[in-house]
Amino acid sequence: MTTYNLRSASPAKTHADAVVVGVVKADKGVELAPGAEDVAKAYGRKLRPLLATLDVTGKAGEVTKVPTNGAISSPLLILIGLGSDVDAKACRRAAGVAARAATNVASVAVALPADTAELVRAVTEGCVLGAYTFTTYKKDPKADKAPGTVTVLSPAARKKDLVTAFEEAQVLSRAVTAARDWVNIPPGDLTPPVFADAVSDAVTEVTKGRGAPKVGVKVLDEKRLEELGCGGILGVGQGSSARPRLVEITYSPRGAKKHLALVGKGITFDSGGLTIKPAQGMQEMKSDMAGAAAVVQATLAIAALKLPIKVTTFAPMAENMVSGSAIRPGDVLTMYGGTTVEVLNTDAEGRLILADALVMATERKPDVVIDVATLTGAMVLALGDRVAGVMGSDEVVESVLAAAETAGELQWPMPIPEAMTERVHSSKVADLAQHDWIRWGGGLFAAAFLREFTAGTPWAHLDIAGPGFNSGSAYGHVTPGGTGVAVATLVDYARSLA
Ligand code: BES
Ligand code: MN
Ligand code: ZN
Repeated sequence: MTTYNLRSASPAKTHADAVVVGVVKADKGVELAPGAEDVAKAYGRKLRPLLATLDVTGKAGEVTKVPTNGAISSPLLILIGLGSDVDAKACRRAAGVAARAATNVASVAVALPADTAELVRAVTEGCVLGAYTFTTYKKDPKADKAPGTVTVLSPAARKKDLVTAFEEAQVLSRAVTAARDWVNIPPGDLTPPVFADAVSDAVTEVTKGRGAPKVGVKVLDEKRLEELGCGGILGVGQGSSARPRLVEITYSPRGAKKHLALVGKGITFDSGGLTIKPAQGMQEMKSDMAGAAAVVQATLAIAALKLPIKVTTFAPMAENMVSGSAIRPGDVLTMYGGTTVEVLNTDAEGRLILADALVMATERKPDVVIDVATLTGAMVLALGDRVAGVMGSDEVVESVLAAAETAGELQWPMPIPEAMTERVHSSKVADLAQHDWIRWGGGLFAAAFLREFTAGTPWAHLDIAGPGFNSGSAYGHVTPGGTGVAVATLVDYARSLA
């Protein structure tokens, strides 16, 4: 476990195994970023030729390691490219890159730009998130090469708002890494009952100790779901021997004026069901519960930060499998609340479990409901694998996008065209059609389908099918595998409501 500190020491005089500084692309060539002034002074006139010989360009993501030979107190200087815009987003990414560059060192001092609360937050988040590894299943315990101590250097380290930003950034980042862990656990080890227990345990954990927030958790098992008539969750889960669950979390602090409801897709594995996926499309489907992981961890972070807002969170959990008891195309399910749905593609299972949960969420009369789901491949085609699509009520979409901007997450608005509503109502046997085999606009159809279950509550839907899982290598603070995307946006959205 890494320990994080915030200090106002000089990066040239601090005794760490490595010191990280930023490099900026400026008009007159490259220069060291704010925070590194003392290092620049220590090198003096030798700095410019040194950077030139090392071919340091300042390009975002660039890493250059320089032995200092006594030029500064630390033996190793790590130069991280920031690009040309030194804003919070660039600093978060650079800190993420730095966290991975500082391997096999016991201590590292990070002297990236950090003279405001916003920058301290970004640098701290970058450090924690960029260093993340998932080593639970590795034989070698040293597979985790994270440094023992990370010291974030800031010229204003003693200012109250910077200390708060530093502490809150750690709370948030820990929530993000916890969401990543859940996504990374193999699907056979995180079936719906196991996931539900893990969520209960996580809730118990945040409510421990003096001054801890009060958070309630309720796990509905298959019997209770049957009594309530949750046909979507039960239908999708009926093909698996691991029974489905619905977890409800409540955080209701005294004095809360607003009530936010969150819903997250918790498909612990998506084989596609009888409308089975091709092998290539199935291999990453342990990540199909990333939405549930995000809403749960966001709720716990909101509680840990004691934000004065009521949050009710629903995580429907099911495993979408192929078996003699699986739902068939043509089956009609009755959702919680009574709406009937004709199933036409068992691989469009997310919307079915979300429907039950959305109805239950809106019954609690929240001011806003937000759902997060790895819902459609169509959204990945539209926006790529690093950007989430946001759909729903205009004013909620707008605030969610603003929160994403603050949080440093990439999200983009998508429409729900009028014609989608018609398509959703095209079933000849049930109230709604779950799917219609028209290839175009699949992500928007899904949003139109979900909207039918929101009872007119102000609502936003985040389709994180792309950014929920990183199949490539690390970039910035985003590591391979589960990304924990949407946790940060939801927490900032809650902040903006509170
Ligand atoms: N879980 C998938 C969506 C997905 C695809 C997530 C790629 C992450 C990466 C979802 O359940 C699904 O299978 N969606 C179908 C919907 C279609 C049948 C309407 C899809 O996108 O193909
Ligand atoms: Mn599917
Ligand atoms: Zn799915």
